[in-house]
Amino acid sequence: MRIGVLASGRGSNLQALLNARQAGQIAGEFVAVGSDQPGAFALERASQAGIPEKSFPLNSYGSRENQEENILRWLQERRVELLLLAGYMRVLSSGFISRASFPILNIHPSLLPSFPGLHAQRQALAYGVKISGCTVHFVDEGLDSGPIILQEAVPVLEGDTEETLSERILQLEHRLYPEAVGLLLNGKLEKNGRTVRIKP
Ligand code: GRF
Repeated sequence: MRIGVLASGRGSNLQALLNARQAGQIAGEFVAVGSDQPGAFALERASQAGIPEKSFPLNSYGSRENQEENILRWLQERRVELLLLAGYMRVLSSGFISRASFPILNIHPSLLPSFPGLHAQRQALAYGVKISGCTVHFVDEGLDSGPIILQEAVPVLEGDTEETLSERILQLEHRLYPEAVGLLLNGKLEKNGRTVRIKP
């Protein structure tokens, strides 16, 4: 399967996915890495791995709609069959999602439906939860609201800061995202409404 990735930042999840492919855990080919941020280190990681990369800065496209249109066209030109959001900091519009002919996955650093949106780890600390974690889910038209594929928890420890909690969750993300992608590629995911069953 031909895999595309959208990332806005340092791309440590992208790297974990590329490493998993190297290790034979992901039987797909990474064919496109796009970003809304021209300086994103994720793009550098992609070019180091020999993967076509392209940035789509909002100010070059005039409107969000035009920016998305160009992203979608590029992904289609690259014949992407699965799109992974890896720290992509924009919500894709319903127009993008309905026209995308491929499934879209996202990773989020909280146990959804708690703390969707930005600064999930900060939200978790402010709320005072004792457990947080991360979630891999299908992307739908809402904010971090699509059907959940995998979740795993970490404790919130006394004295945690946004940085320490984020780091603990990130370690988990790097394991869970490749695992979820592997399940999808191996045909192990069965989506029924909101529920995703993992076939044995
Ligand atoms: C991760 O915590 C991810 O869950 C969130 O944004 C962060 C991206 O980190 N959506 P990276 O760019 O993959 O290192």
